[in-house]
Amino acid sequence: TELDFELEEIEKGGYEHFMLKEIFEQPGVMEDVMRGRVRLESGSLHLGGINDNLEQLRKARRIIICACGTSWHAGLIGEYLIEEFARIPVEVDYASEFRYRNPVITPEDVVIVISQSGETADTLAALREAKEKGALVMGICNVVGSTIARETHCGMYTHAGPEIGVASTKAFTAQVIVLYMVALALSQGRTLSDSEIALYLRELSEVPSKVSEILKSSEEIHAIAGSYRNARNFLYLGRGYNFPVALEGALKLKEISYIHAEGYPAAEMKHGPIALIDEDMPVIFIATRDSTYTKILSNIEEVRSRKGRVIAIASEGDEDIRSLADHVIYIPAASAPVTPLLTVIPLQLLAYHIATLRGCNVDRPRNLAKSVTVE
Ligand code: G6P
Repeated sequence: TELDFELEEIEKGGYEHFMLKEIFEQPGVMEDVMRGRVRLESGSLHLGGINDNLEQLRKARRIIICACGTSWHAGLIGEYLIEEFARIPVEVDYASEFRYRNPVITPEDVVIVISQSGETADTLAALREAKEKGALVMGICNVVGSTIARETHCGMYTHAGPEIGVASTKAFTAQVIVLYMVALALSQGRTLSDSEIALYLRELSEVPSKVSEILKSSEEIHAIAGSYRNARNFLYLGRGYNFPVALEGALKLKEISYIHAEGYPAAEMKHGPIALIDEDMPVIFIATRDSTYTKILSNIEEVRSRKGRVIAIASEGDEDIRSLADHVIYIPAASAPVTPLLTVIPLQLLAYHIATLRGCNVDRPRNLAKSVTVE
């Protein structure tokens, strides 16, 4: 009805789509996720939802993260964070696979389930299986009071607010922030000193304003989107913390624009995807200045020499990359563990602009559901 339409317009707060609104809300959402949990003055963390279980969590022999879709990508970043900070071995599983392969789980294991909706059937089934086998199960959910949130032993809410766009954006960055905080909490008194934790918290606290900076490039990204709106395939490449971001960037594009896109670890390009590269194959490189930067540059050269078109996400001040890439989108300098929270933003915007230029319904893409309650 007309009233519904008007209500929806009000809820969109002046943005053309919920997805765009949710992308732009991220700096504020990130502040909300950290509020009360990150105490900068004392350099400490207060994670109420897992406080009583922290000792058991720190003693985990192994952590298994189970999720689906975008939440699974957040889980992969969680693996890098927990292993780097807390030195606890982590495995990340698709909830649907975990369940059906008779996984080895013992009471010394901790299972973390991640779900925006808290209702995803496969994730719920994985959680029940893990509980059955005696593991401590922790949840990371956005919807308060959802089934997964209720059935887990302990957990943390992402507090990203309602996410309406089917393609997840702000819930993803909120999940990554929660995982970052959890990884630090697991390191406390064990693998990181208090001053290291304080430093990592400071770097996290600088993320929202850096995201606001990146959001200013939306128009520039719109122009790039115009040149590639008719591409039939896209390749997304990244390494380390940015490998899961490459997967997430590709997923965003396919979900809402229906362009086939694949994410790959950059070094694996030579074991297959390189065969696909020609002048019609745009390649997105996440090439921020970190330990694998020079390796990524040589991957870019390989794509160039096969006439592939290159869009690079690079660190501010990197002028060298301009001569290698057709387009460069800059992000502010940041330490490696927080970069996924920055590099994913231009990829969300790129998918959004390509999809709208193609006339797609970005908030309700065909065949997809916000919450998948069937197995
Ligand atoms: C669906 C949604 C995705 C989401 C996935 C997992 O496929 O379309 O955006 O990432 O489910 O959902 P969850 O609510 O468990 O995070």
